[in-house]
Amino acid sequence: MTIHFIGAGPGAADLITLRGRDLIARAPVCLYAGSLVAPEILGWCPLGARIVDTAPLDLDAIIAECRAAHERGEDVARLHSGDLSIWSALAEQTRRLDRLGIPYTVTPGVPAFAAAAAVLGRELTVPGLAQSVVLTRTSGRASAMPERERLAAFAATGSTLALHLSIHVIETIVAELTPFYGADCPAAVVFRATWPDERVLEVTLATIATAVAEAGLERTAIILVGPALGATDFRESALYSTEYDRRFRPTGGGAS
Ligand SMILES: C[S@@+](CC[C@H](N)C(=O)[O-])C[C@H]1O[C@@H](n2cnc3c(N)ncnc32)[C@H](O)[C@@H]1O
Repeated sequence: MTIHFIGAGPGAADLITLRGRDLIARAPVCLYAGSLVAPEILGWCPLGARIVDTAPLDLDAIIAECRAAHERGEDVARLHSGDLSIWSALAEQTRRLDRLGIPYTVTPGVPAFAAAAAVLGRELTVPGLAQSVVLTRTSGRASAMPERERLAAFAATGSTLALHLSIHVIETIVAELTPFYGADCPAAVVFRATWPDERVLEVTLATIATAVAEAGLERTAIILVGPALGATDFRESALYSTEYDRRFRPTGGGAS
């Protein structure tokens, strides 16, 4: 018996991994994280499976479900949106399971920031402009930000920022970022990426707050900020240059 933590992806059911889908199809119990997991995904559960929305449950109740399944000898598919490595509450669940001696696996998923970049058709790292992506958030009711993880500290690097759980404080974000990136800096908001009601705003730091207010977007959005988002004038990477080919991928001398 095993608890299988599965990243369910950003929304669209066909963005889950094959491994995740197959684990869901075999598990007699499915615990899923509320409205961020698409109903089609729950449709892969076997007939008669116990399917529980954990949104209204506290950690004790979630672990009680795992423990009961463990005692019955039944596998559990534990679904979280996006990937498990960021803001999934994986750590607090696995810590409890470790103490109880209940085995688990982790299957990765497509994170929302990657889905948002794909919706935009943009690479977040562009040669000479940005070679780092900061996945961050602002303080929320459930989690305060550690003192040193200030937005200004990340902004000082000029890298591409992917802000989660923060659409409700867009004006504060603009005020903190503008001194570093400038008002003209390209930005984007992708609301419910890959869901049928997905919305995309391609803006600048100067226009983002008004655009968000006008669109009435209140939750489940990724905010992307940084010069890479508007880049057209940048050098090409060495990876596909002919010189790089000659040095590292020789094509002459009989090789086909
Ligand atoms: C609790 S976090 C979960 C993050 C998730 N584990 C991941 O890998 O992306 C929820 C936040 O992720 C972002 N998010 C999740 N799904 C999204 C989607 N489909 N489109 C845009 N943002 C999304 C939003 O910022 C939302 O407030």
